[in-house]
Amino acid sequence: MLGAISSLFVQIGEVMRSAGLATVVRVGEGSELQPGDVVQCMPEKAARKLEIPPGGQLLDLLGPLGPSGGVTAYFGLLDVAKIKAGETLVVSAAAGSVGSVTCQIGKIYGAKVIGIAGSDDKCRWLKEGLKIDAALNYKSPTFQDEFNDAVGYLDVFFDNVGGEILDFALTRLNKGARIVLCVPYPSTTHQSHRVEGFVIADYADSFPEAFTNPGKWISEGRIIRKFHVAEKLEKAPESLPLLFLWRKHRKIGGSRFRSWCGPLDKR
Ligand SMILES: NC(=O)c1ccc[n+]([C@@H]2O[C@H](COP(=O)([O-])OP(=O)(O)OC[C@H]3O[C@@H](n4cnc5c(N)ncnc54)[C@H](OP(=O)(O)O)[C@@H]3O)[C@@H](O)[C@H]2O)c1
Repeated sequence: MLGAISSLFVQIGEVMRSAGLATVVRVGEGSELQPGDVVQCMPEKAARKLEIPPGGQLLDLLGPLGPSGGVTAYFGLLDVAKIKAGETLVVSAAAGSVGSVTCQIGKIYGAKVIGIAGSDDKCRWLKEGLKIDAALNYKSPTFQDEFNDAVGYLDVFFDNVGGEILDFALTRLNKGARIVLCVPYPSTTHQSHRVEGFVIADYADSFPEAFTNPGKWISEGRIIRKFHVAEKLEKAPESLPLLFLWRKHRKIGGSRFRSWCGPLDKR
């Protein structure tokens, strides 16, 4: 069991793995692909041809339709949390790439959605841009009171950060609440609640499903997204440290260095 889990992690000395997008330049004999096809490449999986949904764009395949963005949100919320209409969903790091799609799928499924983020700008974007029910800045000195007022008690907590926000959310659970440990975190259990971690790689064979519905939602204008693009791979060394400053939201991939972002944080 431990062997199976640890094989998911990059070992010391191993080359860092990543999912990526590529355009087919040349095909071998018998290949079902054509030059010009856009393919998703996952470690140890065959390249899979992708279609951009009507109204979508190439960057969507790294963001709301990408494995570590919207696809994670999709399975975390629908399969792990099993969100239902009328339930109260709280999402931490709500303006991030996973969180922003989680919030929007929650709304599509009829939940009351409260997002938590670290700046007023991000909260404004969540509220006005994504049209969720409430957005709370966890840096506000009155955050816990605001949480109590906006949330009351919650049915699903989609945890993207852990720490104090998770600790507080655990005090506000309705009976039967589910906590999705999207952030890598040691598992804990709670009486009458379900806490479940998941790794998106477990869903690799079901990825097409996470394209069909969200692709339709993009076409219908129901998934809103923003991108931050840092052109040229040479820029990667200066752009990479931004990941750890959490001033922006980003995804990296493709032959160019690209990022998917929420609103720019003024900090
Ligand atoms: N389970 C899986 O298979 C899987 C797959 C993909 C991603 N993930 C996990 O999902 C989570 C979200 O990923 P993402 O790609 O959406 O991240 P992201 O877009 O980079 O967003 C991360 C955000 O987290 C917030 N944050 C960082 N440190 C924080 C802290 N100490 N307290 C509160 N908020 C903090 C920051 O937003 P604010 O400015 O709003 O604080 C930051 O922008 C990550 O934990 C990632 O590891 C899991």
